Amino acid sequence: MSQPKQALLLIGSPRGFKSTSKSLGGYLLDKLSSGYKAEELHIQAAMRSETARAQMLEKASSSDLLILASPLYVDSLPAAVIAALEVLAKQRKSNSPKTQRMVAIVNSGFPEASQNNTALAIYRRFAAEAGIEWAGGLGLGGGGAINGSTLEDAGYVTRNVQKALDLAAADLLEGKAVSLEAVDLMAKPLIQKWLYLFMGNRGWKKQAKANGAQDKLYNQLQP
Ligand SMILES: Cc1cc2nc3c(=O)[nH]c(=O)nc-3n(C[C@H](O)[C@H](O)[C@H](O)COP(=O)(O)O)c2cc1C
Repeated sequence: MSQPKQALLLIGSPRGFKSTSKSLGGYLLDKLSSGYKAEELHIQAAMRSETARAQMLEKASSSDLLILASPLYVDSLPAAVIAALEVLAKQRKSNSPKTQRMVAIVNSGFPEASQNNTALAIYRRFAAEAGIEWAGGLGLGGGGAINGSTLEDAGYVTRNVQKALDLAAADLLEGKAVSLEAVDLMAKPLIQKWLYLFMGNRGWKKQAKANGAQDKLYNQLQP
């Protein structure tokens, strides 16, 4: 009997299992359960010790599908994710690697999904360097509207995100790359931009007040 295929979700948010990255990647992983045995790992935790890093490399090398889900940090990826990509690529070059596919999901705080294009291009470049088949990249803007809730709990605002990931899962299960339709649905704003910015500003000011920094919001370092 042939072994079931393995899918590994690598969560790249320092917020770990209570992150939007986990919500998005976890939803996709669930939808792949008819064709893949699923596992998930938290990259920051895996990069903290030699043992955990070796375990991550071992799991990654035996996976048929890698799902990289991370936040956008300064138009790029969190430092631990970049470090993980470096060790993953090195491992793929030194061993005789198995045929693998990879899909990436990046979510940003700013509302425009296009903010994630550079980070998705970094993932795509990594796949090419590591000899992994690129199965597509999904960018979501306004990740703060999900803020680590499950997509089901976040409700109506995630209807297009859920549809996008349902389509992406169907594509991946058929051995295809993620369709443009899924990419476009994921890129749709979760809520109207003015409302997202209004809520974001309100939350920011509340946090500043709680930390006694309400008069320092426009402070800048002098050169
Ligand atoms: C250090 C840091 C840098 C960030 N840089 C950006 C950025 O360049 N553009 C952006 O749109 N959001 C940026 N964000 C916001 C995160 O991408 C956003 O909050 C995201 O939803 C977090 O996802 P997570 O819950 O998966 O960690 C940044 C957040 C942090 C903490």
